[in-house]
Amino acid sequence: MKALFLAGGLGTRLRPLTENLPKPMALVGNKPWLEHLLLHYKKQGISEFVIAVKHYRQIIESHLGNGTKYGVRIDYAVEKELLGTAGAIKNAEPLLGDRFLVVNADIIHQVDLAAALRFHAVNGGAVTICLTEVDDPSHYGVVEQESGGRIVRFVEKPKKEEAPSKRINAGIYIMERRALDHVPAGRAVSIEKETFPLLIANGSGVYGHPIGGYWMDMGTKARYRQLHWDLLDRRFPLPIDGKDGDEKGIWCGENVRIGHGVLFVPPVMIGSDVTIGDRSVIGPYAVIGNGSRIGSHVRLVGSILWDRCKIRSGAQLNECIFGSGMHVGPHILHEAVCNRILEVQRQ
Ligand code: GDD
Ligand code: MG
Repeated sequence: MKALFLAGGLGTRLRPLTENLPKPMALVGNKPWLEHLLLHYKKQGISEFVIAVKHYRQIIESHLGNGTKYGVRIDYAVEKELLGTAGAIKNAEPLLGDRFLVVNADIIHQVDLAAALRFHAVNGGAVTICLTEVDDPSHYGVVEQESGGRIVRFVEKPKKEEAPSKRINAGIYIMERRALDHVPAGRAVSIEKETFPLLIANGSGVYGHPIGGYWMDMGTKARYRQLHWDLLDRRFPLPIDGKDGDEKGIWCGENVRIGHGVLFVPPVMIGSDVTIGDRSVIGPYAVIGNGSRIGSHVRLVGSILWDRCKIRSGAQLNECIFGSGMHVGPHILHEAVCNRILEVQRQ
């Protein structure tokens, strides 16, 4: 079975981090999320992937390529214009089989695919939607189900008081090709607003399968930050490269040079080829990307740096997120979120 990753959205709520980057390529624990996703599904037995994309396809392709280096095959279904979530699947149809997996590529999760596939096969519906539960369902697609799991209503982003339940669309579907007969070609179609309601109404069979484990949509800055703190607290059990982590809460990559009197306040994650100058204080809750240079007397708290950042001596960063290659002067910054383009323009 093939897996289709939907990776074409504009990522507006994560800007400026996604100003020049497809959202699923945002780093999670120092690695693009799309790579984690690929490896997660490879471990579950999938070896053929399709990535549906419009913007910055070359950024994804230059990182993942055709999949050879991961021992899988990757094809790209490229949209000329954004076709929406169902339109993107329809556009990829020639690359897909009779039954396939669809994943919103900005969803951080660890699904047991075999269990979901069994559920799908037993119910025989056109679509199985994996479900999770949240306190406030108003930012998501919300379902109403019968006791056997059949979905009788799907409402995208209802007002909180009008949501039929707290069970939401986790952004992971198992689909039969026949479901795409109901998706018009060549125009933008939303699976949430058009296709699911239609398939429910015409009796094609749409079922909901609750999944356990960690789940998070990384699409806003607050959630992006939270998922890193969950990663460091091990509430999100994604493996982290580096030594010492599980005992001390300090993960350290290869070739890290640490100056005199540096204080680490766990939890902290440091990539490879990183330098930290004398008497800097790192953490609690800090992620430093590969190849970054941190000066001396730097204070880094509650902040995430992507790779190749350069933080000058004396800078104090509190709750900041900086994209790749940022150079930060000796400022005191609170809640700043920047990427490279903005910084280069400022210089
Ligand atoms: N190729 C392609 N083309 N991909 C798209 C397009 C498109 O036109 N539009 C969105 N996507 C991709 C995004 O990149 C993302 O990975 C995924 O589809 C979902 O889009 P979002 O924009 O992130 O949607 P959302 O988070 O507001 O809501 C969706 O996800 C929720 C779960 O987090 C919906 O599916 C909700 O029903 C669901 O609960
Ligand atoms: Mg999303």
